[in-house]
Amino acid sequence: MSLQSEIEKRRTFGIISHPDAGKTTLTEKLLMFGGAIQMAGAVKARKASRHATSDWMKIEQERGISVASSVMKFNYKIDKREFEVNLLDTPGHQDFSEDTYRVLTAVDSAMMVIDSAKGVEPQTEKLMEVCRMRNTPIVTFINKLDREGMEPLDILADIEEKLQIECTPMTWPIGMGKSFKGVYNLYKKELNLFAAGAETRDFKTVHIEDLSDPKLDELLGHQAQELRENIELLEGAADPFDLEHFLAGSQSPVFFGSAVNNFGVKELLDAFCELAPHPGPREAMERTVNPDEEQFSGFCFKIQANMDPAHRDRIAFFRICSGKFKKGMAVRHHRIAKDVKIPNAVIFMSQDRAHVEEAYAGDIIGIHNHGTIKIGDTFTTKEPLKFTGIPNFAPELFRRVRLIDPMKRKQLHKGLVQLSEEGAVQVFKTNLGGDYILGAVGVLQFDVTVARLKAEYKVDADYVATDFQVARWITSDNEKKLAEFIRLFDSALAEDADGCLAYLAPSAWKLSYTEEQWPDITFHKTREHI
Ligand code: G4P
Repeated sequence: MSLQSEIEKRRTFGIISHPDAGKTTLTEKLLMFGGAIQMAGAVKARKASRHATSDWMKIEQERGISVASSVMKFNYKIDKREFEVNLLDTPGHQDFSEDTYRVLTAVDSAMMVIDSAKGVEPQTEKLMEVCRMRNTPIVTFINKLDREGMEPLDILADIEEKLQIECTPMTWPIGMGKSFKGVYNLYKKELNLFAAGAETRDFKTVHIEDLSDPKLDELLGHQAQELRENIELLEGAADPFDLEHFLAGSQSPVFFGSAVNNFGVKELLDAFCELAPHPGPREAMERTVNPDEEQFSGFCFKIQANMDPAHRDRIAFFRICSGKFKKGMAVRHHRIAKDVKIPNAVIFMSQDRAHVEEAYAGDIIGIHNHGTIKIGDTFTTKEPLKFTGIPNFAPELFRRVRLIDPMKRKQLHKGLVQLSEEGAVQVFKTNLGGDYILGAVGVLQFDVTVARLKAEYKVDADYVATDFQVARWITSDNEKKLAEFIRLFDSALAEDADGCLAYLAPSAWKLSYTEEQWPDITFHKTREHI
């Protein structure tokens, strides 16, 4: 099969949602449609165990499962067209971390799940911000229509207002909660009738050529008229679907359903495969890389630690950007200028191709790493390249590290630098005093760091609170102003593990005040890896 046809089949995406909106349930249903049914229980079980314990060691003991479920790959067919779908896990709940953000730098599109009773929630807003950095196309699923929730038009208005993305409904719900009758598919002109039940897949579908059809009244009773009025209203209010706008990330097609009842999920998956983009070009510092280039290239977006203290090996997840990966091939690790052979890559396989030994653009491979791979590293067959757009994200939570045995300062430094290279946590060293301030976006990252410092570096440390609430990397073209800023704000400045200077502020208000006062300084929310 040609490189191009392998690329065109692939859909690589992540799910963005707030905890409890239904991401796990939807994932399971998607996997069921993809025929990976045996995985479905595993997704739920994994989440349950993560809920039950905040002990990271215990969590990581199931690393077999967690590595496998970092990428859930499945095949899906629509008529004769075959798709290879890579669903990348976006950790939520307690294991929400910078990884969750970074996974979104490795996808080509995203599915957004919204709880119909809650509308847009904070975590979704944060994840959407990351999607916006690359204008990632978003398909929206409004979930839990079997429960009473917000009015559909109000949900759309909420999404448009909070996420600044135009919504275009592809299906429209008929009632909700106890009176939920199903959805009307605006594009296929079909009525999908709802029946509760987790495993049902064959919902009754009725083709409706014209909304004035009396069949509608027979099936829906008084709700038929309501549907007619709603659709009329929508035709005036909502913009029609526009593929270009969707691909540019400015319009999101919206589907309604109930994941737990497996209702509306197939329509969502079908439309997703049809509309979402296959792997496209990626920006590197040197040039744009096209997926159909013969040369293999890929970048590391996630490193998963293996807690076996005897072997400090980790798995580095690479997103392939071009060419073909073959098991055992040698690639160039450009940052350290070395050729590395990759005999034992984990290739995430589709269930019916048990002996896949190759991977293509859009696929994810896991490479065993003994500490030489950093987040953001690029591997290619030959040409020196450095992919961009896999940044560090400004931390949202801060802790000051307290070293219990002061003799271990060197080990502490080494451990913190390595852990920050893996993306486990961010490390800042204050200009004044040289204290270590850790920055994270998920609170579990702090527990992980203390546990790993002890297990892997034999360093006992704990935390004390800090006043910092916001961090921004700073740069300026005006050296004089920068020097003045550094002099005046010395006590609020710190260097990260790569030596980049950051301003740590006690509040968002103080940050925006400082930004206003210092127009020559640029305050960055993300920083590219060096
Ligand atoms: P998450 O991964 O986004 O955190 O959400 P998850 O799928 O775990 O769903 C959160 C809760 O919402 C679960 O209930 C799940 O069953 C429920 N849920 C998911 N989809 C729907 C839906 O379409 N309708 C309704 N009514 N509920 C839905 P739970 O009580 O927390 O867990 P469980 O014991 O039911 O698994």
